[in-house]
Amino acid sequence: MAATTPAYRIADLFAERARNIAPPTYSTELTKIATVSFTYGLADPILFPHAHLAAASAAVLAEEAPIALNYGPPSAQLYEQIILRLQAKGITTDRDRLIIGYGSGQILGLLPDVFVEPGDVVIVEGPTFLGVVVRFVQAGARIISIPVDELGMDVDALEVTLSDLKKQGIRPRFIYTIPTFHNPTGTTMPLFRRKKLVALAAEYGVLVVEDDAYSDLRFQGETVPSLATLDKEGWVLYVSTFSKIIAPGIRLGWACGDPAIIERLAMFKSEGPVGPFVSHVVARYCATGKLDNHIQELIACYKHKCNLLLEAIAHEFPSDIVAKRPDGGFFVWCKLPSDISAKALLMAASEHGITFLPGTRCYTNGEGDDAIRLAFSFQPTQKIVEGIATLGAVLREWR
Ligand SMILES: Cc1ncc(COP(=O)(O)O)c(C=O)c1O
Repeated sequence: MAATTPAYRIADLFAERARNIAPPTYSTELTKIATVSFTYGLADPILFPHAHLAAASAAVLAEEAPIALNYGPPSAQLYEQIILRLQAKGITTDRDRLIIGYGSGQILGLLPDVFVEPGDVVIVEGPTFLGVVVRFVQAGARIISIPVDELGMDVDALEVTLSDLKKQGIRPRFIYTIPTFHNPTGTTMPLFRRKKLVALAAEYGVLVVEDDAYSDLRFQGETVPSLATLDKEGWVLYVSTFSKIIAPGIRLGWACGDPAIIERLAMFKSEGPVGPFVSHVVARYCATGKLDNHIQELIACYKHKCNLLLEAIAHEFPSDIVAKRPDGGFFVWCKLPSDISAKALLMAASEHGITFLPGTRCYTNGEGDDAIRLAFSFQPTQKIVEGIATLGAVLREWR
């Protein structure tokens, strides 16, 4: 008798953490057909420094091809350029305290490998940048969210949480924060809160992961020192990226902090360091000194777009929708009145070709149906105006 083939399934081979992955979310689907998408913080492609990158690429190919196109470490000059940029922000560092990765997202995604056993507590902001936090969740971290108000993370609430956890004998592994031009709320944490956050980290022995993706893009207000500059005891891991100031497609980000952390992050970065070619190109571009001028152009453009978006909102939205003006970055966060659900609004708006990020996509626990995030970075100015006019009409119809 012929043996029957056992009903093997590929799915049974998956590791526990790979078994239940979220299906593509409805807003991802909707974005594909959106006429005006305010959903993602994409860079404005008009602003990419094409000519400078082309010139740097040509120079690398002409002068450094044997090294840049082979297996090997990233360009030593790139480390130097990043160290110089950090110094300009008041952060003193060196090669041993620095890791370069394929975007800051990759480095942030490696944190659980170094720090998290299933069940360990990780503290995040609520709302937060879920793109990264989802990796902490996948690693089995127990996520505790600290509310964000007009001044960023509520550090008094954090203190209460840390104290409660300590009473239970729990030491959180790290606190993930975006203190400057927060994604999604656009808020910037003032100095007094930053000082308290750094002091709490030292008092409770908890690492602070400072995600500083946007601070170069300030279009109003005074610069606030990064947490890393306030930290005298080594409790801050500072993470940043070239994605927002050069181009996301070059996939270059970095982290600096305690060498023991950097060493371990590198250990889990199993494919090795970043691509030598692109590291040489970006190092050359930075060394021309043209990046700072470029950043000024970006600031002027994003400031204009942000103003346009806010003006359009003031004109088109019901007055009980509260839009928060950011001092920089890519996002405007709008609080909705109690009769409007962000998810339902998204469904209605998408019928008219408009999409945005519902607040629920910024929390791990489904909260956030009372807010939406509008990214102004990507859309051309005319589309921003048209898109908000359409969204305003949807809102009026709703009422
Ligand atoms: C707050 C924040 N952190 C990190 C990232 C990841 O950036 P990248 O991986 O391109 O460096 C993003 C991208 O949108 C972000 O908004």
